[in-house]
Amino acid sequence: MCPADADLCAVGDLGPRSAREFTRGAGAWPLRIIVVRAGDAVNGFVNRCPHAGHALNLRPDDFLTPDGAQLICRSHGALFDPVTGACIAGPCPGARLESVPLEVVAGRVRLAAPR
Ligand code: FES
Repeated sequence: MCPADADLCAVGDLGPRSAREFTRGAGAWPLRIIVVRAGDAVNGFVNRCPHAGHALNLRPDDFLTPDGAQLICRSHGALFDPVTGACIAGPCPGARLESVPLEVVAGRVRLAAPR
C-alpha cells in the first residue's frame, strides 16, 4: 500500500463517539476498515463479523448502538467493545474483530506501517 493510500481522514472528521468505513485496495475483496472513535481513542477493525463473516453494517457507516457505546453487527446483533473489538454480547462470545493498526499523525488518521 502506498503512503497516499494510508491516509484515512482527519481526527476532527470523527465525532467523539462515531464510526466510519474506509475501503483500501482494489478488486472484488478490498479491505473494508471500520475507524471508530471512543473519546480520545481511535481504533481500526476489519469490517467482518467473527460470527458468520458478514460486514457489520447494512447501511453506510451504521456501526454503533444508539448510545454510541458499542459496535453492533446488524446481521445477528453481536456487540463489540469499540476499543478492543472483543465480542461482549451476542452469538460469538470470546471472539473479536480483527484489528487494523492505525496511527494519528499531525491530526490525520492513517494506517500504521506493519511491524
Ligand atoms: S454475522 Fe455478525 S452477529 Fe452474526
